[in-house]
Amino acid sequence: MSDVVKPKRGGPRSKVDWSETQPYKRISVSKVSPAIGAVVSGVQIAEVDDETLAEIRRALNENCVVFFRDQHMTPEQHIAFGRRFGDLDVHPAAANSAGFEEILVIAADENSSRANGEAWHSDVSCEPQPPMGSILYMKEIPPVGGDTLFANMYAAYDALSDRMKEYLHGLVAVHDGNHVYKGLYAGVADKPAYPMAKHPIVRTHPETGRQSLFVNRSFTTHIVGVPKDESDAILDYLYNHIEHPNFQTRFVWEANSVAFWDNRSAQHRAIWDYWPHRRYGHRVTVKGDTPI
Ligand code: SIN
Repeated sequence: MSDVVKPKRGGPRSKVDWSETQPYKRISVSKVSPAIGAVVSGVQIAEVDDETLAEIRRALNENCVVFFRDQHMTPEQHIAFGRRFGDLDVHPAAANSAGFEEILVIAADENSSRANGEAWHSDVSCEPQPPMGSILYMKEIPPVGGDTLFANMYAAYDALSDRMKEYLHGLVAVHDGNHVYKGLYAGVADKPAYPMAKHPIVRTHPETGRQSLFVNRSFTTHIVGVPKDESDAILDYLYNHIEHPNFQTRFVWEANSVAFWDNRSAQHRAIWDYWPHRRYGHRVTVKGDTPI
């Protein structure tokens, strides 16, 4: 008889917790997939009061990414909304900021040789204190395409076998910005060095207390303290596992949509399938804390 552990009966390895959350009073929250993402409606984020803000924070914690349609805000209001969640992160490499150092311009058109975020990642995870969240306000969209994929890293962690969880606990991986950012931005002189940090592979969310996987194809280079072939094999397994469609949703942008994602519990990937059309937006990024 084979020693391979067969999946137990009673559904897939990855199961969604359907237990009810407390009702929302100020906003409406509609899930867009079982695993991740919800549309929040009934609100202009540039004008929210503190109670509404607290509900948006709860919706973010419960869904890993929240989407808002038909938002209208100036760059100053966008920055001010981000600041209500914490200090803002200034990107370590990009220079295109539409005149505000807190804004990262996300743009691609017929003259672009690349688009931002085309591989799965958690934003700037190479920083010692990577961002808690990113708030992307899309102003111009192509006629079709330019969607963003999001994946739930709690669900990815939960679906691992107990033996794999045991192996990963206590391991630390290096996240390096140098191979990502050197020469990336046309017309921007390289800095002598970009951030590099070691983070636990399994991190605990400071607000929800839940554990999630925190390695990604873009920034993570190796696991500390194991041979290179083992590190490569384990990371490759985790990247493939993380990218399983069961953990994902795909957001179809409209002009003036906002996506607010939690970099501690979600990864994302932008799809550049709309060339030669133009896609243009502004991202504000909220600082986070040291992953533990
Ligand atoms: C990013 O912030 O990684 C880009 C996301 C997107 O363009 O959809």
